[in-house]
Formats: sequence, C-alpha cells, structure tokens
Amino acid sequence: MRLRGRKGIRENLEAQQDLVVLDPKQYKGRWKERFGNDRPIYVELGMGKGQFISGMSVKYPEVNFIGIDMYDELIRRGSEKAKIAWAQKLEVEVEEVQPPNLNLALGNIEFLEECFEPGELERIYLNFSDPWPKARHGRRRLTHPRFLDKYKQLLNENGEIHFKTDSQTLFEFSLNAFAACGLQMSDIALSLHRDGVNEKHVMTEYESKFHSQGMDIYRCEVMVGREALRRHEQRKMEQF
Ligand SMILES: C[S@@+](CC[C@H](N)C(=O)[O-])C[C@H]1O[C@@H](n2cnc3c(N)ncnc32)[C@H](O)[C@@H]1O
Repeated sequence: MRLRGRKGIRENLEAQQDLVVLDPKQYKGRWKERFGNDRPIYVELGMGKGQFISGMSVKYPEVNFIGIDMYDELIRRGSEKAKIAWAQKLEVEVEEVQPPNLNLALGNIEFLEECFEPGELERIYLNFSDPWPKARHGRRRLTHPRFLDKYKQLLNENGEIHFKTDSQTLFEFSLNAFAACGLQMSDIALSLHRDGVNEKHVMTEYESKFHSQGMDIYRCEVMVGREALRRHEQRKMEQF
C-alpha cells in the first residue's frame, strides 16, 4: 500500500516538471535560465506545505521564488496550493494554471551549495525552522554558523536572510549566531502580530497555527550582501 502511494506521488511530481524540480543540483548556476528571465531569486528553506511561498509568488510577480523541502509529499501539497493560489489570482481553472515565477524543489538543505552557485540567490527565508532544542543538536539548526557561512556564499550583493520562528530559544541562539558571524540585523520583532495580524507579511502554515493559539512570533532581517548592508546603514537612523 505504502509503496503504491509513494509511486503515485512520484508520478504526480514527474508530471509537473515546469513547477516541480526533482533534482535541483542539475540547475546549479542555471536557475535564471530555467525561469527564463533575470529577476532576483528568493528561496524558502523548509517550505512545508507551501502556503508562504505560494502566497509570496502571487504577491510579488516581479521576483522568482523557489521553495525547498526534503519530503516529496510536501512538494506535492505545495504544488496544489500554488496552483490554487495562482488560479484565484488569474481567475482561471486550476488545471489551466502554470505559476510563472515559482519552482518547488525536492532537496536537502545540507547540500544547498550543490544546488546553487555563489551569488545566485538574493534572499533566503527561514520560516519556523526545526528548533532542535537539545544542545547536542545545535549544529543542525539552520541558523548555526556552519549554515550561515553557506548562505553568505550563495547570496548576492543585495542578499538578506529573513527569519521567523515561534521558538524563543531558537531566536536567542540565532541572534547570537548572526552577531558572531558579523552580520547586521534589522526589523527585530519579539511579537510580530502584537497589534493584530501584520498584513505586510504573508503567513506560513506554522505561523497561522501558532498565532491563532496566541503565541508570539519572533522575526528579524539579516543583512548579508554589501548593497543590503549599505542600504541598511542609510536607513537605520530613520527608525529612531
Ligand atoms: C517546522 S516545518 C516549517 C514549514 C514552513 N516553513 C512553515 O513555516 O509552515 C520545517 C520544514 O522544514 C523541512 N526541513 C527540515 N530539515 C530539512 C532539510 N535538511 N532539508 C529540506 N527540508 C528540511 C521539513 O520537512 C519541514 O517541512
């Protein structure tokens, strides 16, 4: 039974090759060619069921988005969600729609540098990444310096990391990791939706769930690229 189910998922994904990428390594250095334009590429690492990346692709058609997850069933669910979101936007049937600026990639974040060339990405979203609360698992956290070093390589001069979590301990760990890696942070929020849902932000599945339970959402932006840092320096005093 289980095997038949998995085969069904694979067949489903193989039939959606414009949206789904089963071997992202083959596009290393060629993602712009795949999208057919020169627009910036924003990636969500660990996209889950794809609510955020689908919503973002509809909201920002001038950006190319890639959602990555290691489970094929989540890629399948994400593909359904993306098509529904785009069908609503374009007011067409789901079967007729092809999200123009979105790819969903099956892959393991551990091997991110095998999927992208240095400077190929402009933004990395880390949304509700697994907190790995035990100290001995600290190296698995996606904001551990060993991952930050990879992100620094892959992001371009405008590169930023946008990070959201419900975990206070992961947030604390991450702020310290960003600082240890010499990265500037901005727009730090200890309760993103304190005054009601912040409509500027597209919510993820986990965010919707935790927010509805009254939990705080922690968020910050991290400047990585030279230009991102320069813009941040220019506007940082305007906040106060
Ligand atoms: C807690 S969920 C968050 C999902 C989504 N970002 C959200 O906010 O609703 C974390 C996701 O990261 C994915 N993930 C964890 N480690 C991964 C890895 N090494 N490579 C790819 N995906 C990973 C999991 O499969 C899961 O879907």
